[in-house]
Formats: sequence, C-alpha cells, structure tokens
Amino acid sequence: MSSIGIIGLGYVGLPLALTLASKYKVFGYDINPERLKNLRLGIDDTKAVSSNEFKNVDVEFVETPNLLKSCDIYIITVPTPLKKNYLPDFSFLEQATMTVSNILKKGDIVVYESTVYPGATEEICIPILEKSLLVLNRDFYVGYSPERINIGDSRNTFKNISKIVSASNKSTLETIFNLYQSVLEAKVYKAPSIKVAEAAKVIENTQRDVNIAFVNELAMMFSKMQIDTNEVLKAASTKWNFLDFKPGLVGGHCIGTDPYYLLHKSKSKGFNPILMHSARKVNEGLPIYIAKEISNKINLHKIDPSKAKVLLLGITFKENVSDIRNSKAIELAKHLRNSGLEIVIYDPNVKGNLKTLTMKKIPEFPTNSKFDVIIFALKHKQFVNISPIKFLKKNGFVYDVKGFLERHKRIYRL
Ligand SMILES: NC(=O)c1ccc[n+]([C@@H]2O[C@H](COP(=O)([O-])OP(=O)(O)OC[C@H]3O[C@@H](n4cnc5c(N)ncnc54)[C@H](O)[C@@H]3O)[C@@H](O)[C@H]2O)c1
Repeated sequence: MSSIGIIGLGYVGLPLALTLASKYKVFGYDINPERLKNLRLGIDDTKAVSSNEFKNVDVEFVETPNLLKSCDIYIITVPTPLKKNYLPDFSFLEQATMTVSNILKKGDIVVYESTVYPGATEEICIPILEKSLLVLNRDFYVGYSPERINIGDSRNTFKNISKIVSASNKSTLETIFNLYQSVLEAKVYKAPSIKVAEAAKVIENTQRDVNIAFVNELAMMFSKMQIDTNEVLKAASTKWNFLDFKPGLVGGHCIGTDPYYLLHKSKSKGFNPILMHSARKVNEGLPIYIAKEISNKINLHKIDPSKAKVLLLGITFKENVSDIRNSKAIELAKHLRNSGLEIVIYDPNVKGNLKTLTMKKIPEFPTNSKFDVIIFALKHKQFVNISPIKFLKKNGFVYDVKGFLERHKRIYRL
C-alpha cells in the first residue's frame, strides 16, 4: 500500500486520518480551507482530538484533490444530512465521490464510512465512480465500513469500538479488514455484504431512537399521572433485562437523522414502518411539548408571561459536546420565544454568540440574577452541581428535562 486518502475531515474523518497516519502515509482532504488551515497547526476546533494526537503521525492536509493521486485507498467520511423535507441529502457524498472518480486509477479501493441507507453505496456511489470509465471489481473496488464514534464520549473511542467492514469482493474485504485491524484495538467484523453493513449502521441509531421515544412517551404519560418517571425507570431497571434508556431531547446528526434514511428507503420499497415513524414523531414533537408544559406551569405559578425571565441551560444537541447542529434545545428556545417569553441562554460548551439565534446568550452562569423559570435542557457536567432554587424569583420554578436534579416542590421533570 502506498498511501491512504481521507475525504472529509470532520468528527469522523479526522480521528480516522490521525489513527491511520500512525502506521501509514495519509493525505487528508476537505473542502473547508479554514478547517485545513487549523489542522495544519494541530488545532481541531471540534475538540474531538487533542493537539498531542497530531504529533508523530505521517499526515498531510491538502486542499487540492490532485494531491491525492498517489493514494491507492480512499476513505470517504463526508456528511449525510437531511434536506428540509426530511429526505436524504446525498449532495456531499456525491460531490466527494466525484472528486475521487476524477482521480481514480486501476487497483484503487474506495471505502465509504458515511451513514446511508442500505443500497446507497451500490445505487448512488458506484455509478459515479464508474464515470471514470473504470469497471468495478476489475479495475477498482469498493468497501463500506460504518463509523460508530460517539461525540463527547471519551471512553468509547475510534480505536476501541469494534468496527464492521464490507466490500464488493472477497479480496477487497480482506484488504480493508487488515487495514482497520492493523490500527484498532477492538475486533473488526466482516459483514457478508455492503448492504448488510449499511443496514446494520442505520438500525443501531434507529434502535436508540425508538427506545428513547418510548421513554419520552412514558415521561409524558406519567407526568399526567403525577408519577416520577425516573423513579419508575429506576425501579424497573432492577429487572435483569430492562433496557436503560432515559427521556430527553433527540437532536444532532445521527439519532435524529439516520432513521429518516431508513424510512425513506423502506417507503420507496412499498413498506411504511409504523413504529420507526411514530418514534420520530414523538422525539420531534418533544420541544413543542416541553414548551407547552412550561407555559402551563407559568400560568399555574401565576407568573405574568409578558414579564417572565427564563434561563435556558444547555443548547447543544446533547450533553457535554459543543455541537449545536440540529439541536432540539435550540428548537425549544425558539418555541418559548415565539410564545412571548424573554429567554436568556447559558451554555459553557458553546463559545461566542449564535449568529442565527436572536436570543441573549451569556458567557457565565448568572449568579447575581433571579429568574421566573430555569430550564435544564441538558445534563452538561458543569450543571450537575448547580442549586437552582436560590436563583429563582418568588413564584419561580425549575424544569428539568433530563430529570437529574434532586426532587423539590418547585422542580418539574419531563
Ligand atoms: N459525528 C458522529 O458522531 C458520527 C458517528 C458515526 C457516523 N457518522 C457519520 O459520518 C459521516 C460524517 O459525519 P461527521 O460528523 O464527521 O461530519 P462533519 O460535518 O463533522 O465533517 C464532515 C467534513 O466533510 C467535509 N466535506 C463535505 N463535503 C466534502 C467534499 N465533497 N469533499 C471533501 N470534504 C467534504 C466538511 O467540510 C467537513 O469538514 C456522516 O455520514 C455521519 O452521519 C458521524
């Protein structure tokens, strides 16, 4: 093997590039010049890798695809988001594939890591690679190896999470297997086909979506019955096979996105999966549900909504990360603002102001202020030791979406 080209250096591509570069010559390519400039300085603004990890590795960050020409393995790790109508947006994947197609040569292997629906690699990517006039499994080869990293999780990292590999033929499967196994501590699993590997990835996140939707629905139901959901889950968890899921907002670009890929593919084949669809509906509906709950409690506490001051804690898509893409906490803030409430946002993980959000964001926890409502949207580690009651006005209350605060008569849970 001469060298490996990584296309897309985000949360997935960068750790992959640096890990492979501890053993192989790696070229990293990205369409974002600002990102490349920082990476050359050993700075990862997503904070997924530390500056130490840029040391003692053989990696070159390049702006021109032509500089990838010497590679014989390309790994594509570009985003697969949703369009506004919740349909898969393959534009990044198609563009990245075209980039590789333009420089593809005999003997090359192209591996995809982006999350897609089953069949996408064969139906969407391979035809673009074939525009090079090379023939699959004669001149070039394809693999699919989904990524499982979990942003903000320092225990389950790229190196110690087991990885699935699949390929367009047996010898390519062996090559890809050996490549990943040579840098991973965890075991690499050979899937029998690319479709199986694609499906396995997308159901991992869909399974989480369905399970979280179930506990979110329980939380809505038990709040009507005035039963503490967390206590119910704690009690039920004493059974050996009860699954440990907690209620909460489901945003981001994995659990909140991937099920739509599978739903789309399934519907195109004439099967409408009711359970997956309902789970999406429950989780998508949570911000508006919480906003309504908060409005009801404002009335209950005889707070004048036109004068109410609301502090929202946490605006990222999940706890302990700085990523705000598809954040349901932001959606919650917007619903609250649209109902006329004055919102102040505090999130220690998100630096600076939010260009698109016309709400006040403060850089420090406001220890000298009092609020009518304090919402804990997420369980950031910086929030765990806050005692919110002392920052409440006389009739004020706390709304704890994740249910981690000590029970108190002015603390409500989802
Ligand atoms: N982030 C996660 O935790 C995670 C986990 C598992 C799987 N995935 C999947 O991995 C894929 C990548 O996700 P990510 O979180 O790393 O995305 P990201 O947005 O963090 O990074 C993607 C990078 O690709 C670059 N890019 C976009 N189009 C390009 C092109 N045509 N050529 C070169 N570079 C291009 C972007 O500039 C960006 O730097 C997605 O399919 C995602 O669903 C993500």
